[in-house]
Amino acid sequence: MSTQTTPRSAVAEKAAKTDNRDGFSAEQVKTLSSALNPLLADYFALYLKTKNFHWHMSGPHFRDYHLLLDEQADQIFKVTDDIAERVRKIGGETIRSIGQIARLQRIQDNDYEFVPAHGMLEELEADNKLLAENLRKAHEVASDAKDYATTSLIEVWIDEAERRAWFLFESTR
Ligand SMILES: [Fe+2]
Repeated sequence: MSTQTTPRSAVAEKAAKTDNRDGFSAEQVKTLSSALNPLLADYFALYLKTKNFHWHMSGPHFRDYHLLLDEQADQIFKVTDDIAERVRKIGGETIRSIGQIARLQRIQDNDYEFVPAHGMLEELEADNKLLAENLRKAHEVASDAKDYATTSLIEVWIDEAERRAWFLFESTR
């Protein structure tokens, strides 16, 4: 029996090793998805919390804070599609429901009936800092897997999270 490798079987062999066209192994897809899906849950949780505070804002700076939080919510929401599609591009599966978000999110909800304006801004500042920290951890995972498209996206998202935290901090001084 011939052991000669034809070009066709060489392709099949490579495909078996990498599992998908981007060249990530099944293990790497799992690791990357496990880093990105909780981030996606964090973004949805922070989006809704920022909107929650936008809707329930009160006090003498109502207009400024109400508008600031709307701007921030828009920026946060735009990232959600990029994260989910990044997971799909590498061959992974992403979030399917609100229930799954609740199981994965690390940013805590705030269902209090009343939160004073400063309390809202301080809490969102802390949340954005936590998000930046979670982004740095995901960056390490993506970097280890040589997933440079993801590291490049995450670098922008870290800057955005730090900018939001800065605006929130300066607004509470
Ligand atoms: Fe609004």
